Amino acid sequence: MSENSNKRPEMERITTPELAEKFIAEQLDALRAQIGEGRVLLALSGGVDSSVVAALLIRAVGKQLECVHVNHGLMRKGESEQVIEVFQNQLGANLTYVDAADRFLDKLAGVADPEQKRKIIGAEFIRVFEEEARKLEGIGFLAQGTIYPDIVESGPVKSHHNVGGLPEDLKFELVEPLKFLYKDEVRVVGKALGLPDSMVYRQPFPGPGLGVRCVGAITRERLAAVRESDAILREEFAAAGLDKRVWQYFTVVPPVTSTGVRDGRRVDAWPVVIRAVNTRDAMTAEVEPLDWPLIQKITSRILAEVPGVNRVLYDMSPKPPATIEWE
Ligand code: XMP
Repeated sequence: MSENSNKRPEMERITTPELAEKFIAEQLDALRAQIGEGRVLLALSGGVDSSVVAALLIRAVGKQLECVHVNHGLMRKGESEQVIEVFQNQLGANLTYVDAADRFLDKLAGVADPEQKRKIIGAEFIRVFEEEARKLEGIGFLAQGTIYPDIVESGPVKSHHNVGGLPEDLKFELVEPLKFLYKDEVRVVGKALGLPDSMVYRQPFPGPGLGVRCVGAITRERLAAVRESDAILREEFAAAGLDKRVWQYFTVVPPVTSTGVRDGRRVDAWPVVIRAVNTRDAMTAEVEPLDWPLIQKITSRILAEVPGVNRVLYDMSPKPPATIEWE
């Protein structure tokens, strides 16, 4: 590799379907030249970048691609199902689905420190992926959804999206077809490859998933409250047309309870916090001024549909001083 192999070459910004088609055609040639008859492994999280890499590789080398989707139990509602539906059922990819939820949640039991939680999730992810990689024979290449900002900035990290830290015998040759693209270009390419809008225009989702939104030590019950309330929020945002306009929106459930009443009895239950922010670079962020009727509708649905919850709050805090996530 030359010294400048990490510098974006002179190229037009990919803003149109035509430019995306041109990029795709070039990449198909380059990928076939690099991979030949070899087999390629890809950790497919369902995020925009790994999804676009998968779609490109399916076109380039078809069944020579082996996708592994690790469900760490911290995915949003319906997310793993969508990965299976799109890549295995519709695009015919080789896909190994690993339901590792119990493994992750057992390791995380009682761990309240956010950095410790991230470390456990990252390390366990590598371990599960490594186990799956060892079961597959003749792998020569590891594909990754690295994009240009990952190379030039050390900004908000994708700590375990990119599978670093594999042992020596699993250090395959890297395949990184998106490494000179910006996020908006990746989306244009994904659209041209026929991926669904819900995948291509997906809001950012942290590697540790819902784990950092189930604040403190994760319990299955509170995690379910995060997942169900997040699903309701996403559904209502989509219905209101906010899903493509608001940068990031999610719910958080802190490990506190407050008194409420249900069926005439006092019951302690959790609050659900709604967070919806806009930002350019995630270094600062402003709160989305939501319409009152929409907040009321989301509140009623969460209180009616999510067990263990008796209050809904709207997080009004910009970044700084708050961060976007709660931990
Ligand atoms: P904060 O909370 O630091 O988040 O304002 C800025 C952006 O980074 C995302 N984020 C993460 N992404 N692994 C990730 O891949 C992480 O551990 C992580 N923590 C925060 C966050 O969702 C927001 O988009």
